[in-house]
Amino acid sequence: MIGIIDSGMGGLSTLATLIHAKADHQFLYYADVLHAPYGNKGQWDIYKAIKTCIHTLCGYGVDQIVIACNTASFAALSACQEEFSIPIYGVLPSVDEAKEAGGTTLLLATAYTTSQPFPREIVPIALPSLATLVDLYYPYQMDPILSYLERELSGYNGIENVVLGCTHYELIGEEIRSILRAKRTFYGSNSILRQLKKATPGTGWQLDILSSGSIDHERYSDVLSLLLDRQSNLR
Ligand code: DGL
Repeated sequence: MIGIIDSGMGGLSTLATLIHAKADHQFLYYADVLHAPYGNKGQWDIYKAIKTCIHTLCGYGVDQIVIACNTASFAALSACQEEFSIPIYGVLPSVDEAKEAGGTTLLLATAYTTSQPFPREIVPIALPSLATLVDLYYPYQMDPILSYLERELSGYNGIENVVLGCTHYELIGEEIRSILRAKRTFYGSNSILRQLKKATPGTGWQLDILSSGSIDHERYSDVLSLLLDRQSNLR
């Protein structure tokens, strides 16, 4: 069973990528809403929160973990990989791919992620309220999300590449691309496919969702269905 961790619904984008590519798996998703948003916290607090999530998931018998969060992967992945004996994987922004594509690259991410060192060609922009707005309103009330994006991203129109450096932003990747009129959009969740063990074929996929605070399970299921539809349409 694969355990998947995020501060809220952002990790559903990584989960959808995994389900689509590795359908024969059991997944246990952990939404750590009690500590959301991670992106406005310091490294120690994020690390403590992630460790608690991992302990909880291990208690349910997961044998691999995906930290489906760029912020937490920067803050806690290497320490957790050393401390726990099961394989732990992370999601990080696809800045190298964007660099290879050439042109100007905006990295949109949380305040914690944009404070990390990035190559000179990458322009990091922190969107400190976006993950919270997504958790509150996506996908049924898009107005607050779109007004925030339009306000924060005006002035960057027409750039070549946009790297979505937060899994929450992957849910609204198309909206971000169209506001920026960007040529290319890079999704970090895709990198997870190269990292995980194969499933035993023929078992189908199964999902349970846990959380550290109250969440709307129906909305989580709706978002996952939406993302899975999108993935199928891409093929
Ligand atoms: N989804 C997380 C990421 O990829 C961050 C959201 C938050 O700030 O909690 O960085």
